[in-house]
Amino acid sequence: MTGTGTLFTNIGQLVTPAAGVQRGAAMRDLNVTRDAALLVQDGVIRWAGPRADAPASPDEHDLGGVAVVPGLVDPHTHAVWAGDRLADFEARIAGVPYEEILARGGGIRSSMRATGAASVDDLVTLARPRLQALRHSGATTVEVKSGYGMEFGAESRMLRAIRDLQAEFQLVPTLLIHVPPTEDRAEYVQAVCHDLIPSVAREGLAAAVDVFTEREAFTVNETRAILQAGKANGLHVKIHADQFHAIGGTELACELGALSVDHLEASGPAQIAALAASSTVATLLPGVSLHLGLPAAPGRALIDAGAAVAVGTDLNPGSSPLYSAQMALALAVRLCGLTPAEALCAATVNAAAALGLADRGALVPGQRADFLALHSADWRDLPYTLGASSVRSVFVGGTAL
Ligand code: NIG
Ligand code: FE
Repeated sequence: MTGTGTLFTNIGQLVTPAAGVQRGAAMRDLNVTRDAALLVQDGVIRWAGPRADAPASPDEHDLGGVAVVPGLVDPHTHAVWAGDRLADFEARIAGVPYEEILARGGGIRSSMRATGAASVDDLVTLARPRLQALRHSGATTVEVKSGYGMEFGAESRMLRAIRDLQAEFQLVPTLLIHVPPTEDRAEYVQAVCHDLIPSVAREGLAAAVDVFTEREAFTVNETRAILQAGKANGLHVKIHADQFHAIGGTELACELGALSVDHLEASGPAQIAALAASSTVATLLPGVSLHLGLPAAPGRALIDAGAAVAVGTDLNPGSSPLYSAQMALALAVRLCGLTPAEALCAATVNAAAALGLADRGALVPGQRADFLALHSADWRDLPYTLGASSVRSVFVGGTAL
């Protein structure tokens, strides 16, 4: 798109948080403009405001009076996997805990066996419809993790699949060090630090390194070594922490200046205070609470303490088969105590900040023109609606997909 750009008109409500990460009470400060217009040029917003004040443009696109919100950013998914976890699902419903299934060699380890046997092309074919579902739900940028490849070759195939899918979707790839091998654990951590991370960084296959820090996964000391290697190789860092037990992952994330710490279902006052005092974003994954029947993360307390809170789907076969970024936002309201306005902020600018991105998530001049036209004239239908999509059309860089 060149020249004067496209003027999107007849926007019943143009709704946006301010650009950049928002903390605490500022998460509720949405800007709502009625009868608005949006000027997009070269994929970027050039002007936004009341229709009556809009600059003239020969190219107008009438949006039919509906509400427009920023494209959602899903900051945490495991959208690339092979195999399924349907037997785990039945076992859990019959009362076997998630951690026990993992300790018995199932769960994440069973996804590793299936994913390790898949080719890059298989993985692309499996992941594409999942990413299409997320996009239809309003996600215009999606983070995707590796982590189902114990062997480094399998990790690399997962990251290559994500790279191939970047031709079709706006994706942010993360190297996830998920669970340790059952033998030679210290050697494995050394090889992750000295072989895997440097080679992934050299090939530009990941923007960040993530570790699952938990009793059944990596210790805080192992996590520290892995994330220090990530930082030494120029990568951002993040942690899956406090999912079942608060063993120190959140405190380590804050100490290392991690972009985000994700899960937090078992976080208490000490972890909330650490996040409130740090620049690390607290990412809620309410699909996990719903699917595993876990307590929800303390979203309300985190915001009241002044933390920056984001929300994601955690789309994965074991703990969150949730294919909708809109539903994640809606669940953050029901399960984590966020207000609708806070949830929109959590799913847009704050989710972008959890990925180190400051150029998207708000509908103000200079930001990427990624936005959603809803079916409704009232934006609150987005956090309100369950089980059907309130998103009518998805625009990426000003182009309808
Ligand atoms: O974010 N908790 C660890 N990792 C994923 C689950 C992956 C799986 O169960 O396959 C999560 O919940
Ligand atoms: Fe996860």
